[in-house]
Amino acid sequence: MSVSPNLRLLTASLLLLTCAWTSLSVQLCPPCGNTTVPYPLSTSPTCGDQSYKIRCDAAAGSLLFDTLNNSYPIASISPSAQRLVVRPSSFVSSNSCVTSDITHQGIQLNESLPFNVTSSNTILYLNCTNTLLRSPLNCTSSSLCHTYANNTNAVGSCQKAPICCTFRAGGSSTSYVIRVRDSGCSAYTSFVNLDPVLPVNRWPEPGVEIQWVGPREPLCSAQSDCDGKSVCGSDPVQNGVRRCICNSGFTWDPVSGFCVDGEFFCLVYVIGTSIPPHMLCMCK
Ligand SMILES: *[C@@H]1O[C@H](CO)[C@@H](O)[C@H](O)[C@H]1NC(C)=O
Ligand SMILES: *[C@@H]1O[C@H](CO)[C@@H](O)[C@H](O)[C@H]1NC(C)=O
Ligand SMILES: *[C@@H]1O[C@H](CO)[C@@H](O)[C@H](O)[C@H]1NC(C)=O
Ligand SMILES: *[C@@H]1O[C@H](CO)[C@@H](O)[C@H](O)[C@H]1NC(C)=O
Ligand SMILES: *[C@@H]1O[C@H](CO)[C@@H](O)[C@H](O)[C@H]1NC(C)=O
Ligand SMILES: *[C@@H]1O[C@H](CO)[C@@H](O)[C@H](O)[C@H]1NC(C)=O
Ligand SMILES: *[C@@H]1O[C@H](CO)[C@@H](O)[C@H](O)[C@H]1NC(C)=O
Repeated sequence: MSVSPNLRLLTASLLLLTCAWTSLSVQLCPPCGNTTVPYPLSTSPTCGDQSYKIRCDAAAGSLLFDTLNNSYPIASISPSAQRLVVRPSSFVSSNSCVTSDITHQGIQLNESLPFNVTSSNTILYLNCTNTLLRSPLNCTSSSLCHTYANNTNAVGSCQKAPICCTFRAGGSSTSYVIRVRDSGCSAYTSFVNLDPVLPVNRWPEPGVEIQWVGPREPLCSAQSDCDGKSVCGSDPVQNGVRRCICNSGFTWDPVSGFCVDGEFFCLVYVIGTSIPPHMLCMCK
């Protein structure tokens, strides 16, 4: 027997009802050009979580990550790993070993926001002064930054700068800053999950990986701000703040933005660019 599309739709909605699917508790952002904007990232005050603001350059159809004083193009986003990769600054010119963001002292994240630089980044500081020799970074003549400068035409001018240093990011003091300045190092680049054994021509594109802390339950001022599986109540850890707290039997899932009971799973789907993304939840 063939099942008509209408019947299949009905079956699907019955299934959803019987496993008590809840309405969407968070508003997803529309795609930016062809790029999906996953929860909790937010491109406008009416979608996503406002602690996770990024920017959509609508004309270019690309996403930008703002730091304290600058912004960087987002190359990829992995919502399940709660990570994104930005492209580091370009060089001022092909014959100077200085990155353009030296005017902003490099990448500086706002420490009050839930983003930080992950320990998957191998950061190469180029054109450094000898004050760096007293740092814990690897500034030896065999350091990977020399291998990079020696084998990369685009940064050939960096070979003329005798001191460069390499380190793996993620120590607590470096988690929010990749500092670039005249009195330290005037240029940098970074590679995510770099295998240092590979020849330089097989290294990945430069990138800086940034992770975010999973979002808390959405803020609310009244029960109508919350869905049927949560109650607008006092935040147990933040005084004076009210959030949609999941009912017993349900837990907050920071990746989907739902209170889930473990018996269904949700998919985000995007139809064209004129309709906001929807979330479809199905029984397991
Ligand atoms: C979006 O994708 C379509 C089809 O793949 C393509 O024709 C269009 O140029 C893309 N738009 C942008 C802004 O990348
Ligand atoms: C290294 O940085 C200094 C200070 O920013 C700059 O004046 C110099 O030209 C740079 N060296 C090279 C080889 O580009
Ligand atoms: C970054 O911006 C802040 C405030 O806008 C300003 O006070 C600070 O001097 C800037 N820092 C740099 C390095 O540009
Ligand atoms: C850092 O983020 C906090 C929280 O959103 C904000 O209040 C503050 O103004 C930001 N600081 C700067 C210098 O932008
Ligand atoms: C510096 O890096 C090079 C190349 O990865 C490595 O062989 C050397 O042992 C490192 N030196 C120190 C002091 O960490
Ligand atoms: C980089 O090139 C310089 C000059 O050619 C050479 O002395 C040095 O050993 C090279 N370093 C590495 C790590 O390849
Ligand atoms: C960076 O973020 C991760 C997860 O989001 C967190 O576990 C870690 O403690 C943070 N590191 C710092 C120095 O804040």
